[in-house]
Amino acid sequence: MLIFNTISETQDYLKSQQKAGKSIGFVPTMGALHAGHISLIERSKADNDLTVCSIFVNPTQFNNPEDLKKYPRTLGKDCEMLLPAKCDVVFAPSAEEMYPSLPQLRIDFGTLETVMEGKFRSGHFNGVGIVVSKLFNVVKPDKAYFGLKDLQQVAVIRQMVRDLSFDLEVVPCPTLRETDGLAMSSRNTRLSVEARALAPQIYKVLHLAKKKLETGASTKETQELVNQHFSNYPSFSLEYFEVADYDTLKPILAKNETGKTALCIATFLGGVRLIDNIVF
Ligand code: PAF
Repeated sequence: MLIFNTISETQDYLKSQQKAGKSIGFVPTMGALHAGHISLIERSKADNDLTVCSIFVNPTQFNNPEDLKKYPRTLGKDCEMLLPAKCDVVFAPSAEEMYPSLPQLRIDFGTLETVMEGKFRSGHFNGVGIVVSKLFNVVKPDKAYFGLKDLQQVAVIRQMVRDLSFDLEVVPCPTLRETDGLAMSSRNTRLSVEARALAPQIYKVLHLAKKKLETGASTKETQELVNQHFSNYPSFSLEYFEVADYDTLKPILAKNETGKTALCIATFLGGVRLIDNIVF
């Protein structure tokens, strides 16, 4: 496994591989890897000749400086996980390498970012859009793999790839879960023992909400059920629960009869912000 810290050495190596006819799969990450990330690497390995994983904690997508400070940085451990997964190349740049000067460009994703994460984390998707564009320009992948746990991120990146004609395919991949249903996330390691025991309630409530909508209930009635469920667990502080169209992310009034319905949730639990969703 090759580990590069600079853009130029990464580009030089990948250009030579592309010239030799090799297809490139790309898994962008912020490190603190878990089995969910490794499943993306495995998918990329199955689809491509060469798999590149980037590890970069992108400061411009954090709207909360405390969150950025607390974000785990575990490069050594991450590489230990990538090695047996047979990742070919790790690109782990410094902030100075990625941002010799602060980008002046701003990306406005319109209605895709006025809801959910975009509404509560101002500027977050601009930061994601800029860094993912830069990473795409460094790696020039044929396919890029993103986990559906960040459903809105996937929607935003698909839009960006379409709008800017990036010559690559975005491959959304299923959320990996712990055996009790909790979506895998690097933030889970910050949960106390008590909070960790309660965390599966998030997935549970998403399923209760799905069942309710399937009986013909409205979004409003379903929202009430979610609020009522969490009222039994005062450790949760619900930020949002949305019933949205999977493609447009526009809120919908009841289960989608034509397209896919996404149920999305963000909640604080013991000071840790967790998100999850299900699509049906
Ligand atoms: O999903 C993430 O880990 C990040 O948002 C990404 C896509 C690597 C951009 O920094």
